[in-house]
Amino acid sequence: MIHKFRTQTIKKLRKMRRRWTKEFYREIADVAEHPAVLRMKKFPHHGSTNCYQHCMNVAYYNYQWCKFFHLDARSAARAGMLHDLFLYDWHTHAKKTGDYFHGMTHPGRAYKNARRFFRLNPVERDVIVNHMWPVTLFSFPRTFEGWITTVTDKYCGACETSRRN
Ligand SMILES: [Fe+2]
Ligand SMILES: [Fe+2]
Repeated sequence: MIHKFRTQTIKKLRKMRRRWTKEFYREIADVAEHPAVLRMKKFPHHGSTNCYQHCMNVAYYNYQWCKFFHLDARSAARAGMLHDLFLYDWHTHAKKTGDYFHGMTHPGRAYKNARRFFRLNPVERDVIVNHMWPVTLFSFPRTFEGWITTVTDKYCGACETSRRN
C-alpha cells in the first residue's frame, strides 16, 4: 500500500517536471535568444561553464522550484537568465579595471544591462540585484523568488566548479 503510494507520487512528480521543463523554455525564449544575452557565451564563469550556460542552469532550477512552491516561476526563470549579465570576464576584470569587488558589484552591473533591453518587474529586479547574498551583506532578497535564487545560484556554481571536463 505505502509502496504503491510512493511509486504513484514519484510518477506524478516526474510527469510534472517533464511538463514544467517544456513550459520553461517557452517562458524564457525571448530572453535566452536576445543578442546581448547570447554574448554571455563568450565569457567563462565557473570551471568550463560559461556565463550563458550558468544563467540557463539557474533559470531552469528557479523555474522548477518556483513552480513547486506556486511562486512566480516565469519571473524567477527570466531573471535567472539575466542575473549574471555583467558581460565581462571576471577572471581578468580586476586587473583591467581596478574593481576588486566583482562579487559585490556585478549584480548592479547585470541589473543595469538587463534594464537596457528588457522591462523588468519587481520580482525580476529583486532576483538580479540580491542574488549574491550573503556576500552583499545588507542587500538581501525581499521576495521568495529572490531567496530561492540565492540557493540555486550557489548550487549551480558549486556543481559547475566541481565538474571535470
Ligand atoms: Fe552572480
Ligand atoms: Fe550566478
